[in-house]
Amino acid sequence: MQDQYRRQIEYLRISITDRCNLRCKYCMPPEGVQWIPHESILTYEEISRVMRISTSLGFRRFRITGGEPLIRSGILEFLQNASQISGVEDLMLTTNGILLPDMAEDLKKAGVNRVNISLDTFDEDKFRELTRGGDIKKVFQGIHRSLEVGLHPVKLNVVVVRDFNSHELPRFMELAHDYPVHVRFIELMPIGISSDKRSDFVSIDEMKAILGLEGLKATRDIRGGGPAEYITSEGFKGSVGFISAISKHFCSTCNRIRLTPDGKLRLCLHSSNEVDFREVLRSNKSDDEVRDVFAQAIWNKPAEHHMNDQAWQDQRIMSQIGG
Ligand code: GTP
Ligand code: 5AD
Ligand code: SF4
Repeated sequence: MQDQYRRQIEYLRISITDRCNLRCKYCMPPEGVQWIPHESILTYEEISRVMRISTSLGFRRFRITGGEPLIRSGILEFLQNASQISGVEDLMLTTNGILLPDMAEDLKKAGVNRVNISLDTFDEDKFRELTRGGDIKKVFQGIHRSLEVGLHPVKLNVVVVRDFNSHELPRFMELAHDYPVHVRFIELMPIGISSDKRSDFVSIDEMKAILGLEGLKATRDIRGGGPAEYITSEGFKGSVGFISAISKHFCSTCNRIRLTPDGKLRLCLHSSNEVDFREVLRSNKSDDEVRDVFAQAIWNKPAEHHMNDQAWQDQRIMSQIGG
């Protein structure tokens, strides 16, 4: 359906848990955060109902995120059911990859089309430091397994942080040359824990300069609903993509909204303007009435984010929103 700015909204990102098996430094404090209490988390039945209602409004793409979605128990059965909802064309997952070696095949069988995997460095020690304990070997195995079982296209998310991984960009580009993976470099967003680290920010233009890709326009359309622009060239099995969340924000073409683990409809990643949808779902409203509230919320989606304001500060961290 369209919002008041005539954007076609058809992509729902659903965060099914705020918990995670890692503690990435740009995302969470070492001790974790105050977890959302269990009773406040939407049940799988409630989430499926939201999916059904949204397909009736034209939603076609559904991305399951977290925290780390694969740690929520019962996820395979939920995905199996979700993939069968009529109108669901693309069912996808964003994961840190740690559990993929064991789960990729089951995800494919459950009807998941594809996965996006976070990987910010090639260095085993740096990965352990950044994620506070993560084992990078699992992520590599997870990437291989996802390719093997056909969760295509497999995309990697690389959040670029100055002096941490900015020198590794060429190596990521080599990976996209040698393997059919789509590496996306993401501008660090000043959200939650990383909000006071604006000096760590590297712009897409600077990333392109590091890679010798200045001035190049997007050359390839990779299956996806997100904001990445992809560049590829002769001999590449995959591609390199850029997500310019800050420097050239893509609000005017935004096609998505988010559902948080505690059932808030978040109309823009970077606006605390949320609709308490859990309350709506737990009232005695009929599907038609729930659909009306959903549609009204979308209509009111903000025109753009205000992340570039120095004063901007979110109440949630990334793992509570789902990226
Ligand atoms: P596909 O293109 O369909 O593969 O997925 P995607 O890029 O939408 O999903 P993914 O979860 O991998 O997101 C990659 C990065 O893009 C994450 O860091 C997100 O936070 C960021 N992103 C996605 N949507 C938005 C958005 O609306 N605004 C901003 N600023 N960033 C976004
Ligand atoms: N800025 C940009 N991307 C972030 N992610 C998490 N925190 C941030 C941030 N502050 C990314 C993760 C994951 C995706 C869902 O969001 O690396 O790939
Ligand atoms: Fe977990 Fe993702 Fe946050 Fe890292 S960025 S702590 S993997 S939710």
